[in-house]
Amino acid sequence: MNKIFFIGAGPGNSDYLTLKGRKCLQKSGVVFAPNIYKITYKPFLRGKTVYDPMEYLFKDLKKLIEKHLISTNISFLLPGDETVFSPFQPIIDYYSKISEVVPGVGVVNASSALLKKTLDLPNVSNTIVLTSSRSLKSTFEDHNFIRFLSRDVTLVLFMNHIPLKELTERLIPYMGEKCPIAIVYKVSLPEEEVVIGNLKNIASKVKKDYFESKKEPSMALVIVGYVLNKKATISSWDYRKKQIWDKRKK
Ligand SMILES: C[S@@+](CC[C@H](N)C(=O)[O-])C[C@H]1O[C@@H](n2cnc3c(N)ncnc32)[C@H](O)[C@@H]1O
Repeated sequence: MNKIFFIGAGPGNSDYLTLKGRKCLQKSGVVFAPNIYKITYKPFLRGKTVYDPMEYLFKDLKKLIEKHLISTNISFLLPGDETVFSPFQPIIDYYSKISEVVPGVGVVNASSALLKKTLDLPNVSNTIVLTSSRSLKSTFEDHNFIRFLSRDVTLVLFMNHIPLKELTERLIPYMGEKCPIAIVYKVSLPEEEVVIGNLKNIASKVKKDYFESKKEPSMALVIVGYVLNKKATISSWDYRKKQIWDKRKK
């Protein structure tokens, strides 16, 4: 029985494909790849039949899948990873008996690496909120992500559609105007840009509005929190060594 692989394809650049994802892709004669991956994954897609899944209603997608499944495995390339904000869940659920989900590098992982910052730090932030300013069925006001915020939280905002100036004005009462913010645009891709500032000055630092495009979803991730400019203390390493790791050995 042929299978359908749902492969976390990373933030864009094919260097982020895992070895497991690569093996599954090699075994598939048909690949459903969103437009950007058709370009960045070109060498991996040679000789395969490639479709853009976003061009089909579910019923047409189902027809295509079932036509090809008779003769080959099928792979879907999922932006980032399936863990958060993925539109592919209905297909995974529908074919759950013959599907396998392969984890990948999420945009948040690639952004954290680029910034060289873990998103939690003792005494700074112990909570990371992964959220979006909108969801399919609600307006921003209905989807009130602000309620999760405080100064000891790190906010990771996907698919932001709120103009930056307005976004920062909404965040300042909860996070403070000195709170650091990073905008990570097209991480791993040739157009990659990072703008770092605080909630008061970030709007004047950006050269383009990353959240304006009506045509395409924004390819920028917003990270807000004091972890971004705090250094981890050496004493936290030594504390762990003495109080946690050494005690485990006994
Ligand atoms: C539908 S979500 C996909 C998230 C994905 N499932 C993941 O694991 O990261 C799309 C949003 O992810 C962010 N995003 C996707 N690709 C990105 C990239 N290369 N650089 C920065 N942000 C990106 C943007 O916020 C975009 O609006």
